[in-house]
Amino acid sequence: MKNFEYKNPTKILFGKGQIANLDNEIPKNAKILMLYGGGSIKRNGIYKQVMQALNSRKVVEFGGIPANPEYEILMKAVSVIKNQNLDYILAVGGGSVIDGAKFISASVKYQGVDAWNILTKNEPITDALPFATVLTLPASGSEMNSGAVVSRRSTKEKLVFKSPLTFPQFSILDPSVIQSLPKRQIVNGIVDAFMHTLEQYMTYPVGAFLQDRFAEGILQTLVEISEKVIKNPSDYESASNFMWSCTMALNGLISQGVPSDWGVHTIGHELTALFGIDHARTLAIVAPRYYEFCFENKKEKLAQFAERVWGITEGTTTEKAKKSIEKIEDFFNSLGVKTKLSDYTKDYKKTAEEISKRFIQRNWLGIGEHKSLTPDNIASILKNTY
Ligand code: NZQ
Ligand code: ZN
Repeated sequence: MKNFEYKNPTKILFGKGQIANLDNEIPKNAKILMLYGGGSIKRNGIYKQVMQALNSRKVVEFGGIPANPEYEILMKAVSVIKNQNLDYILAVGGGSVIDGAKFISASVKYQGVDAWNILTKNEPITDALPFATVLTLPASGSEMNSGAVVSRRSTKEKLVFKSPLTFPQFSILDPSVIQSLPKRQIVNGIVDAFMHTLEQYMTYPVGAFLQDRFAEGILQTLVEISEKVIKNPSDYESASNFMWSCTMALNGLISQGVPSDWGVHTIGHELTALFGIDHARTLAIVAPRYYEFCFENKKEKLAQFAERVWGITEGTTTEKAKKSIEKIEDFFNSLGVKTKLSDYTKDYKKTAEEISKRFIQRNWLGIGEHKSLTPDNIASILKNTY
């Protein structure tokens, strides 16, 4: 097991009716920017619950945060906060709204020339506005981590930042909010959390038995509840296991003491930036081909995964490891998720060249758990996704 330091300051309020506890958690005199997406919260009753709980506090609403939060729109929210002297952000939504809140909270306090530099130049965040969340879509894990992914459609970029200062103060996780989710988004949530876990597990053994079982526990749970929660999102038992699995998959716990990969995500973000493909679906396109390309480096964990998650105990390590990749793709297809890039866009032919060129421009010359995958390797993997 590797050395680690782990701290997660976010308070979690989990369960039915917890939205009402916003009143106990947010300072009475807070001047709040309430951030939300395209309006689902106004159609499914969550907005009403939130406004009731916020009581007589000053609230300025800012809606219209798109899936894959847009830099230009987020900067407008920054101006609203500055002009109206607001001092607290409440994000009500999925990963896009919560990530948006993280970028806004840092940008309000940003002293540099252009807040976009936080993403392109890794400019340090030295201060941030406090914010909290009401999660409406289990998927990203953003509700209990400090990372965010921000898009800029004008340059077709989608980039990541994280800071110890951009953890939510607290997050409300009420599994009953998923009742209004379309199947497409529930499936996205399952696939995204599944891949978050694999990015922190499908590397090489380091004698971290407990972390491996934590990860396998999340993977087994997602497989177990997937059909039920898709069929009946009102089934509270499945919904609560789904939601907590998604949070636990990316709150930092399972990556402590073990190597992480994140290569699948790094490539996936480019597919969203270029083609607008849902985040989770980009991962389903890349992952099987990525694991085939990195087979020798990942063989032991692939075989362990086959045994412990899929119950495949017959065969050699190589045979089990190969079956493992087939099972991942079968699982995604069984959820109705297509795994070829050409299933999502006709303009795929130059993707490999375009993305490897971008990686070279950004000096991303070695990704993955060994920092060994070159832009050429990425191009080969992408060609296999067509
Ligand atoms: O905008 P509204 O109208 O609310 O509709 C949303 C949106 O269209 C809808 N939705 C959300 N909750 C709903 C609902 N519809 C009905 N009922 C509800 N209860 O779902 C759509 C997608 O929402 P979005 O927030 O985009 O989805 P998700 O939670 O999957 O977040 C995706 C974003 O998170 C980033 C992704 O890159 C992407 O930008 N990620 C963030 C991570 C992090 N911070 O650690 C890690 C992830 O790997 C990921 O990169
Ligand atoms: Zn993800």
